[in-house]
Amino acid sequence: MTTTLEAQLSDKLKVMDEIKDIGPKPADQEESSSAHGRTDERAEFPSPSGSATKIVPEPEFYDKAQKYWSEVPATVNGMLGGLGYISAIDIQGSSVFLREIRVPGNRLALDCGAGIGRVTRNLLIPRFSCVDLVEQDPAFAEKAREYCTSEDVAPGKVGQIYNVGLQKFAPSQQYDLIWSQWVLGHLTDRDLVAFFRRIKLGLAPGAFFCLKENVSSSRKTVEDKEDSSVTRPLDSYERFLKEAGFRIVRKVKQQNFPKGLFPVYMIACKPVSKE
Ligand SMILES: C[S@@+](CC[C@H](N)C(=O)[O-])C[C@H]1O[C@@H](n2cnc3c(N)ncnc32)[C@H](O)[C@@H]1O
Repeated sequence: MTTTLEAQLSDKLKVMDEIKDIGPKPADQEESSSAHGRTDERAEFPSPSGSATKIVPEPEFYDKAQKYWSEVPATVNGMLGGLGYISAIDIQGSSVFLREIRVPGNRLALDCGAGIGRVTRNLLIPRFSCVDLVEQDPAFAEKAREYCTSEDVAPGKVGQIYNVGLQKFAPSQQYDLIWSQWVLGHLTDRDLVAFFRRIKLGLAPGAFFCLKENVSSSRKTVEDKEDSSVTRPLDSYERFLKEAGFRIVRKVKQQNFPKGLFPVYMIACKPVSKE
């Protein structure tokens, strides 16, 4: 577990460039793969050659992330790995992005992997009548309710808070916008595509699904064993979105983040079949 903010910074916002490629497995991982049994319970990530590499037993992949986040403070700084000061720049970049794509409705939005509701409060609440949240950590989910319903926020702005992992979440509403930020690296490739497919069904006509994620600066997926996540190349996200039946409408790189971080991209997409 990381103890200092600086160390968290390097973990969560990936100060260092690609440090660990998920390529051919070392001998000990091969052993542990075969010892953990069924292949369909393993996390799959693209190897540098593009074929799937199975490395971590899937329940362990999710359990480790859950444990990691349960030890992180329920604060903006905690959400941003000690880089709380970039929150304003981040929100500003997202605001410009949303303005550019012109979201048609302003009734209901969904914040995926919402944490304590930093994005909900600063980006979504000012634009939508009501915002639902999905967050796997119970303490963050509870904090989100408090953080997003303080005195300066109009009552009724926060709707449902679903305390569940995105790998299990299926929307039961029609949203005008579904936003997902700094969380998709916690899903296996297969769960990510399945999540995209389910999310598509939760979009109102003309609505957008937007993701904002770190991407690796090479074509390789980078694994972070400490928080149990991966940083994928941009083209993996593009490929998985297309596979799930989305078309990409806009793709923008976040500007003005401190040097040394992974590039951060925003992608807006719409279901192919609804157009
Ligand atoms: C880097 S924080 C980002 C929080 C928020 N999106 C933001 O930008 O402030 C990552 C969040 O994803 C959550 N998370 C991790 N794995 C998840 C999963 N499988 N499903 C849903 N949320 C998850 C963590 O609990 C944490 O709140």
